[in-house]
Amino acid sequence: IDIKTLRSATNGMITIDPGYKNTGSCESAITFLDGEKGILRYRGYSIEELAEKADFLEVAYLLIFGELPNKEQLAKFHDDIKEESHIDEEMKKILDAFPKSAHPMGVLTSLTSALIAFNPVSVNVSSEQAMYHAIVRILAKFPVLVAWTLRKKKGLPLDYGDDSLGYVENFHKMMFKRPNKEYTKNEIVIEALDKLLILHADHEQNCSTSTVRIVGSSHAGLFASLSAGISALWGPLHGGANQAVLEMLEAIEADGGDTKKYMAKAKDKNDPFRLMGFGHRVYKNFDPRARIIKKAADEVLGDLGIEDPILEIAKGLEKEALEDKYFVDRKLYPNVDFYSGIIYRALGIPTDMFTVMFAMGRLPGWIAQWREMRLRKEPIGRPRQIYIGENHRPFKSVDLR
Ligand code: ACO
Repeated sequence: IDIKTLRSATNGMITIDPGYKNTGSCESAITFLDGEKGILRYRGYSIEELAEKADFLEVAYLLIFGELPNKEQLAKFHDDIKEESHIDEEMKKILDAFPKSAHPMGVLTSLTSALIAFNPVSVNVSSEQAMYHAIVRILAKFPVLVAWTLRKKKGLPLDYGDDSLGYVENFHKMMFKRPNKEYTKNEIVIEALDKLLILHADHEQNCSTSTVRIVGSSHAGLFASLSAGISALWGPLHGGANQAVLEMLEAIEADGGDTKKYMAKAKDKNDPFRLMGFGHRVYKNFDPRARIIKKAADEVLGDLGIEDPILEIAKGLEKEALEDKYFVDRKLYPNVDFYSGIIYRALGIPTDMFTVMFAMGRLPGWIAQWREMRLRKEPIGRPRQIYIGENHRPFKSVDLR
């Protein structure tokens, strides 16, 4: 059956698939994932090779436009982004109005929505040129918003970036530059950050990406679609797991490091506790990103001279899970979030900022998926249901109820 026939074929037939476990929502040429074999590729390039050899901006270009950029294309892309990094000063007032205790994900999704009001032109993206403009705008402004979110939390003055730096280094500097203090680049830190952002950059039709596509399918603009995606990412079953993992590891450490006790809790069906950072809807084998991040955690902590006891707790849990019948039978392996928080922590990023860092990494993937959906002129996303409520019944006025 061809896609056109399928699109118009309702004929009273509806498939019910809670959680869309077996339902494809689109055709996509962006990310290939084989969950049985543990393979992940962006536009045909293996995640291992990209994490090793590419930088985040190259990967963003690859995901969004389909090919790795040559030198000129990359330079132009970067220049176009730099042109757009300014944020309306009024946005600072909005940020100011949030309490310091606000969760950074709430702040980030609000600021992303607020950007629409200051960039109305980004809503109407009927031409490819307008689409490109909206894309470079958000790639430019989003790292500033992330940095501001962190600086607000830490009570540091807000600032803009430094155009002479690379995209990721500039992002790092915007986050961590201290007033009246020279910023010095730490290669290890920037490389680790680059790697983490690349590993999070896309993962086909996950919860937040599907959200971005479905919101965008109503022709809401790019920024509105992204803001919805950020909200979807926030939950602990999705991107919020990285914060939940670290809090879980800290709790285990504070409780004497008894990993066996927590393994038992995770297996107990009467206990709501789950081993955060374990399991995945699609991977029924090792998540290849987890493999790379685990190795990177060892290297980064080693290079920075940090000995973190929770890294040992994480490794202990993984070892036990790999030998445990419950986890083996259900094919539960560490996912991307299991080791990422340990690196974020080593880089000085507060725990409640971890999911924001995930959003920063996922930004090009969301953009690529939104662009693909618009260019393919996909119809509005509108699932069906099977009604299981009351039959028709007469209305009773309030005094008769
Ligand atoms: N700890 C203990 N048991 C688990 C875990 C876990 N982390 N994950 C799944 N299980 C069990 C379930 O209880 C279920 O057992 P049952 O068959 O006896 O009922 C079985 O494994 C299948 O799990 P489901 O929840 O049906 O799998 P689903 O595909 O719906 O959920 C999910 C996947 C949400 C990732 C789940 O594994 C989970 O909650 N993991 C912990 C949270 C997490 O790490 N999320 C991040 C995912 S990666 C990402 O989004 C970036």
